[in-house]
Amino acid sequence: MPALDNLFHKYSELLKIKPLIWHSDTKELEWLDTRLLPKKEVYRRSGDYMRIATAIKDMEVRGAPAIGVTAGFGLAAASHRIETTNIKEFMSELHEVYEVLRNTRPTAYNLFYALDKVWKAAENAKEKGDIGEIRVAVENEAVNLMVEDITSNIEMGKYGSKLLEDGMTILTHCNAGAVATSGFGTALGVIRYAWYEGKEISVIADETRPLLQGARLTVWELWKEGIPVKLITDNMAGLVLSKGLADAVIVGADRVIYTGHTANKIGTYMVALSAKRAGKPFYVALPTSTIQATMDPGSIVIEERNPDEVRKVMGELLITVEDIPVYNFAFDVTPPDLITAFMTEKGIVYPPFPENLKRVKES
Ligand code: MRU
Repeated sequence: MPALDNLFHKYSELLKIKPLIWHSDTKELEWLDTRLLPKKEVYRRSGDYMRIATAIKDMEVRGAPAIGVTAGFGLAAASHRIETTNIKEFMSELHEVYEVLRNTRPTAYNLFYALDKVWKAAENAKEKGDIGEIRVAVENEAVNLMVEDITSNIEMGKYGSKLLEDGMTILTHCNAGAVATSGFGTALGVIRYAWYEGKEISVIADETRPLLQGARLTVWELWKEGIPVKLITDNMAGLVLSKGLADAVIVGADRVIYTGHTANKIGTYMVALSAKRAGKPFYVALPTSTIQATMDPGSIVIEERNPDEVRKVMGELLITVEDIPVYNFAFDVTPPDLITAFMTEKGIVYPPFPENLKRVKES
């Protein structure tokens, strides 16, 4: 795909980790199985939309922007494999695929954003009365989503990096890096950009129980590039911020609404509270595709996952009484009064959030 090839060529220095690869010849998606990191770098490859849906559900691919782009390619892969020659039947089968992908994970807004964009491209192309045209439109839109994701991350990095000064230590939670996107990352993209600009910055990574995205993925990404990083357990963030060991917090987001309420990995809210108390800025880095046009925090769906993720460490070591009841909320919602600003590809968004988030979303 020329658009993607050009992008990877132009930013080859910045895009060293490639978590998603679209094979336009075989219409297959290849993805880095993030469950196995940092021990093993294993890529999976498939053109079967059910397999791609499983990769999202089981978190081989995770992180809001990566989930959205993967789902877009799931629709594209399926569109090339639906066999009927009847347009009505074709659209109905494609819609079933859309529904399967939509039901993989409930919180990341990028999933719905991406699927709706690709579906709309199919609807528009349907008017031409040719299934081949629909397939081309669907695949092109999926590719556009990946291009948009990467370019947004780099632009966000440019804007966000302006708020980082030489010598700063940034605390981050979960993984909002290259492997949570199509490349470069959001929160880690900002940190990377500042580092490439020559700023001497360092990072403190929360381990992020229960699935350890911080310890496994954030640390691995930064270590690979030589960016100084220290790992802490989640329950250390309060102390670290109050002792002044971190100067600012930057996290990613799964869903932000116009009020500024921000759904992100469980534990983010506690970090935001600690940052407020310690008087440190708390930034959320996100592409505007993560923003949902609503003022209703009650509409944010919080995913609840398998209780064994809490009872065991990485699915193996049981650390409590077998079958003990648990809560396993995968995300929490940070209220806007704890957020200093949003770093987006269209600039930094300060309060008042309702009008300013709406403006960047609609521009
Ligand atoms: O459950 P996950 O690993 O998909 O959760 C990911 C996060 O919470 C990230 O911080 C968020 O998606 C932003 S990724 C750029």
